[in-house]
Amino acid sequence: MPLDLLKPIDPAWTSGDGSAVDPELAAHVAELTAIDGTLGRFYAAAAVALASAPDPATLRERQLALLGRERGIVTHALAELPTLSVEERKRRGRGLNLIKRWLTDAEARRRAALEAAAQAGDALDVTLPGQRPWVGRAHVLAQVRDELLDLFHGLGYSVYTSREVELDEYNFGKLNFAPDHPARDAHDTYFVGDDVVLRTHTSPGWVRAMEERKPPLRLVFPGRVYRAEQVDASHMDQFHQIDGLFVDRDVSMADLKATLTTFARSIYGPETRTRLIPIYFPFVEPGCQMDAACVVCGGDGFVRTDDGMKRCGVCGGSGWIELLGAGMVHPNVFRAVGYDPEEVTGFAFGMGLERIAMVRYRVPEIRLFLENDIRFLRQF
Ligand code: DAH
Repeated sequence: MPLDLLKPIDPAWTSGDGSAVDPELAAHVAELTAIDGTLGRFYAAAAVALASAPDPATLRERQLALLGRERGIVTHALAELPTLSVEERKRRGRGLNLIKRWLTDAEARRRAALEAAAQAGDALDVTLPGQRPWVGRAHVLAQVRDELLDLFHGLGYSVYTSREVELDEYNFGKLNFAPDHPARDAHDTYFVGDDVVLRTHTSPGWVRAMEERKPPLRLVFPGRVYRAEQVDASHMDQFHQIDGLFVDRDVSMADLKATLTTFARSIYGPETRTRLIPIYFPFVEPGCQMDAACVVCGGDGFVRTDDGMKRCGVCGGSGWIELLGAGMVHPNVFRAVGYDPEEVTGFAFGMGLERIAMVRYRVPEIRLFLENDIRFLRQF
């Protein structure tokens, strides 16, 4: 009884090239076809089935279907040999045994190929772009602060860390604020108790330092300050300042100017133009404000746009941006800490970190600094 060996082969298996598992496929098919056309076609289809097995599990499944002891097509065909005539049995027996040997080899080849591919997948491909590990960084304000502390360290200043909750007396009184000075107004100051406030500036640090130490002093006072502000794009009720204090004999306004110019050029670039204009602060006399030529319009007050000249949005058209307050320490402040204003002189300055960062990086909105949005922070 002639066997239809092609029938049990799943048609889905039979796309592909069988020579991938049997390099001598054509010769083998020819040899089998010479015995019996059915054997040749069966072998060609079975070789494709093995060569196209996509993974080891599928390969195993097909191997069992072809050669398995229980269900294997070839096994069954061999089992039926005794029912054939002697002639027929010899012929088909030889063909089926060839098929069994070659399919066994073909299955081994496909298995090796799949294993090699899996290993190659695990291997390190050094040409792939690396996966950058996520690393944190200092907050942009901390970066600006550290840069400034570095700069002042180079000029001989050390850091003095002062308290954020401060006595009214230190935040105002000893800094020569008159008792009815508007800065004491509850609208500006957060009161913690009757005479305890959240510091509204870092200047009270000088009073603490001078009370503790004898001149000469060269100190910077970085820290957070609080004001009861109406919050908007350029005002927050907490922000950061750095004050500086230099006290010695014969300290002059020229020393102050040189220090501030060094600071401005280091922060905004060596070509930066600056100016000092007189302004009132109770704790210095004379008091001044240092401005820098606007970093955006270069001091022109306007910028060229596609629609013509526009007023510069960063300096508001004045050509200058306010950098800091400064001045010569007021004699009353020296008296309040027990220094003799006839013996020592000194200068002080104070600046806002948010402002420096906003001008330098063109940050349009002060609240971004506090929101901790990683998309904002990772830009610095
Ligand atoms: N403390 C002042 C403020 O917060 C800024 C300031 C002005 C600081 C003049 C100083 C100074 O050291 O000399 O507005």
